[in-house]
Amino acid sequence: MKIAVAREIDPSEPRVAASPDTVKKFKALGVDIAIEPGAGIKSGLPDSEFTAAGASVSADALRDADIIIKVKRPEPSELASYKRGALVIAIMDPYGNEAALQAMAEAGIAAFAMELMPRITRAQVMDVLSSQANLAGYRAVIEAAEAFGRAFPMMMTAAGTIPAAKVFVMGVGVAGLQAIATARRLGAVVTATDVRPAVKEQVESLGAKFLAVEDEEFKQAETAGGYAKEMSKEYQAKQAALTAEHIKKQDIIITTALIPGRPAPRLVTAEMVRSMKPGSVLVDLAVERGGNVEGASPGEVADVGGIKIVGFTNVAGRVAASASSLYARNLFSFIETLIDKTTKSLAVKWDDELVKSTALTRDGAVIHPNFQPKT
Ligand code: NAI
Repeated sequence: MKIAVAREIDPSEPRVAASPDTVKKFKALGVDIAIEPGAGIKSGLPDSEFTAAGASVSADALRDADIIIKVKRPEPSELASYKRGALVIAIMDPYGNEAALQAMAEAGIAAFAMELMPRITRAQVMDVLSSQANLAGYRAVIEAAEAFGRAFPMMMTAAGTIPAAKVFVMGVGVAGLQAIATARRLGAVVTATDVRPAVKEQVESLGAKFLAVEDEEFKQAETAGGYAKEMSKEYQAKQAALTAEHIKKQDIIITTALIPGRPAPRLVTAEMVRSMKPGSVLVDLAVERGGNVEGASPGEVADVGGIKIVGFTNVAGRVAASASSLYARNLFSFIETLIDKTTKSLAVKWDDELVKSTALTRDGAVIHPNFQPKT
């Protein structure tokens, strides 16, 4: 049985799906692992590190692989080199990309979307949304600090006192929590908001202050899966009024609000942006999903009257070495469940919850219930 690690063809994707550590783990399972040349280079991993761990490096690593691991969904041009029936496991970005799913079905591969992994205890170690969001949350604060013309911590010097930066984190999931922790470590005064009431305690435990309209709807808002649901128009208006006042006084805003399978909620209007002081910085981690901040532009730093809106995409990729090492572990942990350890062969349990939740295509068809062609 052979696993191949693809080199990403998207030049803006520096991450890689394996690390020397996971190569060793795959080898220990009795699986062969082959890497496309240069696959890890942008994550600081030359081919020699993979070969030292026991992998082979070959330009046609993918051709006869039983499992191909990647970071991003394969492009149609890549699919041509995959064996029919191969398992292809990546971050597939399936929502709104039905044509791409169809292309993978037609290529005869079994495609798995790591980001659809259920958030159950057994799968925590495979949770790519968490591993990558955690780093994105950290990096968002670093980007903000870089773009901000002032210091984060309060500094009392002989030449005078510099006030601490005021950081407001909107959306406190995995990324938001890490953003709060990072901003606190840098010495900022941090406030945060979310539509999920459960978050309030977590925010406070990190030494930040929670800001929300705490009405009945807010209390009912937590859904079984732990994700946010879309709030009523009335709630959104009340929350917007409270945050509008708060935003005027902030130096830095980090937004991370997402609703699975839907466009990102708009939390900061152009008017709110303009109400901030020149020199303020907003970092919109939801920019790829439509953006939380009006005026955020994917891949760019917009300047609105001296206020910067940072819209970098693939923010986890800006900490590529760390992001790759965690993603590689997520993948290994999942693939381990697909292998029969005695026969050292592929043994996918198609009725397992992890497989059912993530499998997009199989035997020429799109099989995931969320992506069935509309009739
Ligand atoms: P996410 O990336 O889907 O969303 C980020 C945050 O934005 C969420 O906290 C969400 O409530 C918030 N949000 C959505 N709409 C908003 C609005 N209009 N205003 C303000 N905030 C808004 O969330 P993420 O990071 O994936 O985490 C979601 C939940 O899942 C969290 O409770 C997290 O602790 C939980 N989780 C559970 C895991 C497990 O059990 N294995 C693993 C990871 C996370």
